[in-house]
Amino acid sequence: MERAVFLFQDTILVGDRLHLHDVSATALPSEAILGLRVLQKSHKIFVFTDHPDGANEVAAAVETERLQGQLLNLLAQYGVYAQCLSRPSWFSKIAEEHRIDLPNSIVISSRLSDVERAAEAGVSGIYIAGEREPQPQPAQIPDYLIATDIWDAALSVIERNLSHYGKDILVDVERAAMILKSGGVVAFPTETVYGLGANAFDPIAAARIFEIKGRPRFDPLIVHIAALHQVQNLVTELPEPAQMLMRFFWPGPLTLVLSKSNRVPDIVTAGLPTVAIRMPDHPVALTLIRKLGMPIAAPSANRFGRVSPTTAEHVRQQLGGAVDLILNGGRCPIGVESTIVSVLSDTVTLLRPGGTPLEEIERVVGPIQRRTKASATPLSPGQLPHHYAPQTPLVLKGQDLSERMSRRGLLSFTVPASTEGFVAVEVLSKTGDLCEAAANLFAALHRLDTMHLDVIVAELVPEVGLGLAINDRLRRAARK
Ligand code: TXA
Ligand code: MG
Repeated sequence: MERAVFLFQDTILVGDRLHLHDVSATALPSEAILGLRVLQKSHKIFVFTDHPDGANEVAAAVETERLQGQLLNLLAQYGVYAQCLSRPSWFSKIAEEHRIDLPNSIVISSRLSDVERAAEAGVSGIYIAGEREPQPQPAQIPDYLIATDIWDAALSVIERNLSHYGKDILVDVERAAMILKSGGVVAFPTETVYGLGANAFDPIAAARIFEIKGRPRFDPLIVHIAALHQVQNLVTELPEPAQMLMRFFWPGPLTLVLSKSNRVPDIVTAGLPTVAIRMPDHPVALTLIRKLGMPIAAPSANRFGRVSPTTAEHVRQQLGGAVDLILNGGRCPIGVESTIVSVLSDTVTLLRPGGTPLEEIERVVGPIQRRTKASATPLSPGQLPHHYAPQTPLVLKGQDLSERMSRRGLLSFTVPASTEGFVAVEVLSKTGDLCEAAANLFAALHRLDTMHLDVIVAELVPEVGLGLAINDRLRRAARK
């Protein structure tokens, strides 16, 4: 017996019936493609189609079959394999014919009457609140969920089945989301490797990641999302090839590097003008991000220089008490990190080979540039020439300054004893907190860089914890 998802009806995928004459030309909503891709791992997908209106019954049946064929082909292009059913059919009949486990199946519809009919047959319903449908009163149907689109519906189904990872996992995920909300750091499973996550919009929490990893320098983090609309806030543009890659490979082991919006804290991207984004294909990760309601910035959850962890036990051995919580989602099914490509304007470049094969990417967007010769060790952006360094000359405090450098800015670790001789001063942390200092570093450098200074005088910070990474950054900026 198999579980099923019944989509009531095709219009939920292809829009109004008026557009149904040529389905092959229809752009399926990305949310639907991603949702069905996830749902089909655990459920058979059925799409109900209405007979088109027409006087001639035979002609109508032929037309229905043609449209169904087009729709199934379209879905298959995106790796979604579904079956069509014509209305009206009764659930009991379908269940018998297709050997469906009805009590564990789901109806997704934008019509309340469908959800009600499903409930009568013992099938749970998810109501997609459309624009024309009234919001239902809670009393109308005893047991159903409301979703904004098919992706959102898929996340509800994922959450409902999360107990696969242990009976308390949902409680743990909710606790993890609370910890992240209050600035904590949580290790969580993804399909590739375990990540060490913080709220992507919380620069101080993101800084703690570097501290815990013991990284001697800042590397940009990957921002993990659980809904396509979350990309909007993170980027300034979404080139066509990026949209295609998202439709074909998300959720999954593909990270896209895109031009960053100013909402993304500089510490997350290590000062780069780009941000790396991916949607992980792991029920625990997706549910965590959804509960947080915000993207999660995360590198792999290993200590600096060690291999990436693929079990919760690996994480515990390496990071143990340093993280606020380790979510156990079992062994990571893919076990190597995601493939990273940048998509800037229309140029797609491979930055790191990984879990999504290059050949498959090229099948979607054509031949792409290779920065490394398929080498297993990625060139770290921390070492790249385009990595952000201020345009203004920077010297470390204590080094000699030429007289001609009269417009001076000071980058101070904590509140300085004197600011004499400086036209601008940036304090990294009033309380002398290295996490706060790291979180402010890139933004402070950016600000000083816009002030038409002759020189930035930077004070080194204590060489402990995140101080190593901060000083590395400052020394490299001073050498430039
Ligand atoms: O599968 C994965 O990608 C895992 C899971 C946790 O998502 N994450 C992971 O993160 O491998 P990490 O930090 O170990 O590797 C992230 C890589 C780094 O090599 C970093 O340099 C690169 O992503 N990266 C991040 N932002 C970038 C950017 N804006 N431009 C270029 N590379 C970037
Ligand atoms: Mg790593």
